[in-house]
Amino acid sequence: MPEINKAVFPVGGLGTRFLPATKAIPKEMLPVVDKPLIQYAVEEAYAAGIRQMIFITGRHKRAIGDHFDAAFELEYELEKGDKQELLELVHAIKPDDMACNFIRQPRPLGLGHAVLCAEPVVGDEPFAVLLADDLMLGRDQHQGGTTVLQQMVQAYAERPGIVLAVQDVPRAETRRYGVVDVRGVNETAAEVFGMVEKPVPEVAPSTLAVAGRYILTPGVFDSIRRQPRGAGGEIQLTDGIAALIGTEKVYAFRYDGKRYDCGSKEGFLEATIDLALADPKLGPAVRAHMMKALG
Ligand code: UTP
Repeated sequence: MPEINKAVFPVGGLGTRFLPATKAIPKEMLPVVDKPLIQYAVEEAYAAGIRQMIFITGRHKRAIGDHFDAAFELEYELEKGDKQELLELVHAIKPDDMACNFIRQPRPLGLGHAVLCAEPVVGDEPFAVLLADDLMLGRDQHQGGTTVLQQMVQAYAERPGIVLAVQDVPRAETRRYGVVDVRGVNETAAEVFGMVEKPVPEVAPSTLAVAGRYILTPGVFDSIRRQPRGAGGEIQLTDGIAALIGTEKVYAFRYDGKRYDCGSKEGFLEATIDLALADPKLGPAVRAHMMKALG
C-alpha cells in the first residue's frame, strides 16, 4: 500500500468573510495567537510523516511563499543579536527535510478546481488535502496525543481508500458542509455511500459533516475533471469524490479532536481564546483579563 508523502494546501480562496484583513493577504496567513493558520496545518502534515507540501495559491501568492522561504536578513540579525530561541523558531517554519511547491490557481473556480491544479506535482499516488482555515487539534495533541491527520493516515493504513474527516453537526447547520451517507464499519470509520454538498437540513442524508482534512487517491483528478459546476457555480471537490463511490472505497473517519472553523469570525475568535488560554506564558494574564472584562 502506498504511503502518504504529499500534502496539498488549497489557499486560493477569496476569503471574503475576513475582508478587509484579507485584501492583501490570504486568510490562511491570519495568526491565531502568534502563528499563521497555514503553519498549524503544515505542522500537522509534517507530524503525519509528510515531507512534500504543495500550496495552491491564488492572487495572494507572495505572503505564503515568503513565509516558507528562508529569511537570510532576519536570521542574520537574530544571530547577531544572540537571539537563539527566536532563530530556532524561524528556522523551524521549514525544516531542512521539507520541500515546498507553489502552484498558481489562475482563478478561484472552487475547491475541486484547486485540488485539480495539484495533479502535475502529486502524480499517481495518494495524497492528503488540508484546508488550513479549519484549525484541527487532536485530543491532547500537545501532551503527546496524535494530530488529526496522523489519525487519518493510521486509518488509511488499516483500510486503504479515500478517507474523509467527519464530525457530527447540528441538523440545522448541514447547509454549511458536505454531508455523507454512511453505513457503519466501526465506531470511528464508516463506509460512505453518498455525499451531498451543502444540503438543506430536510434532505441531508445524515448529520456527519466533512471537515477540512482528506486523504485522496489519484483517481479523484479524472473524476473532478468530469464534473459540471456544482453548488454556487464552483467546481466542487465533494462532487468529484461522490462520483467515485462504487468504484473506490470511501470512508468517513470520526477524528478524535476539535475543529475550529477559522474561515468564520466566531470560529477564529474561539480558536484564539482557547489557544491563548492554553499557552503557559499567556494563559494566566488572558484568563485574568477575561474575568475582569466579563465583570
Ligand atoms: P471557502 O469556501 O471558505 O471560500 O473555501 P473562501 O473564498 O476561501 O472564503 P470566503 O467564503 O470568501 O470567506 C474553502 C477552502 O478552499 C480554498 C480556500 O482557500 C479554503 O481553504 N479554495 C476555495 C481554493 O483554494 N480555491 C477556490 O477556488 C476556492
